[in-house]
Amino acid sequence: LKSNVEVTAPGKLMLFGEHAVVYDRPCIVSAVDQRVHTEINLLSGGKIIINAPDVGVTNYESTLSHIGKNNNLPKGVRFVEQAIITFTDEYHLTNGIRVETRNDFSAEFGFGSSSAVTVGTIAGLSELMKIKMSKKQLFNLCYKTILKVQGVGSGFDIAAAIWGGTIYFVTGGKVIKPLNVGDLPIVVGYTGVKADTPSLVRKVADIRSKRFESVEKIFDDIAKIVKKSKELVSKREFEELGKLMNENQALLKKLSVSSNRLDRLIDASRQAGAYGAKLSGAGGGDCMIALCSEDRMKDVEAAINITGGKVVDVKFDSEGLKMHSRL
Ligand code: MEV
Repeated sequence: LKSNVEVTAPGKLMLFGEHAVVYDRPCIVSAVDQRVHTEINLLSGGKIIINAPDVGVTNYESTLSHIGKNNNLPKGVRFVEQAIITFTDEYHLTNGIRVETRNDFSAEFGFGSSSAVTVGTIAGLSELMKIKMSKKQLFNLCYKTILKVQGVGSGFDIAAAIWGGTIYFVTGGKVIKPLNVGDLPIVVGYTGVKADTPSLVRKVADIRSKRFESVEKIFDDIAKIVKKSKELVSKREFEELGKLMNENQALLKKLSVSSNRLDRLIDASRQAGAYGAKLSGAGGGDCMIALCSEDRMKDVEAAINITGGKVVDVKFDSEGLKMHSRL
């Protein structure tokens, strides 16, 4: 058996369809060139050792029979532990392991470090144990892991971490269709506020239980926007796509998931000449995206900075899961 593997998986940004995708609708997500690195070593003893310096965890020690029981661990580490549990529920693992994770980006941005580290851990373990797994099998194990840890989620971030590129995705991986797109002229602005995805998903669930018909109608309208943008994004028809971003944002506002900071950055981008802008992800904070012509990008970046946001430099449509193994 190989004893060491390094897996890298990309973070992601949602382009269209957040929240509705939790309820059996499609979304479009693009992988970004900010990656999570997960290195796994097989150990001869039975220890599980986790290093995640980005979240202040060094040489955290446990054993297979004990992992998953410490709820005080930082989020990233809980995903690593649960990923190991999901893997060992399915396949036999007698060795100890050491896992080390490192992010290219701050976990604050909402680029999806939890999903990328989950993918890194399970893909790495299967490589070390010489278990052949299709992308879809890997997706299923990772999705199970995410649901165990946070209870909610469509799995779109897992798909982005595995397949990379830009994908059309339906809840739980019912459809995972890579789109042929290329990098996109999108400016990303961070609000400075970290959003908590599960609580925003629960907030929408709560609104939906009170106003079922109208929220379902909003989800249907979002699904229509996603389907239109699926055609337009491949043709790179950015002006039309920008309009759809604005429409998507209006519907997200109706779901009460935007915030003042997001709205300010979105308005500023539009005023600076963006074709369109919207929040990206769960809302409440994290990032917004603004689609613009190449010659407007600098103006839009300046507008975001002046309005109190932080421009995050990323490339879209980036490569999916990559494996580097050593003997
Ligand atoms: C969060 O980034 C996107 C949501 O649609 C949740 C999910 O799809 O898992 C709000």
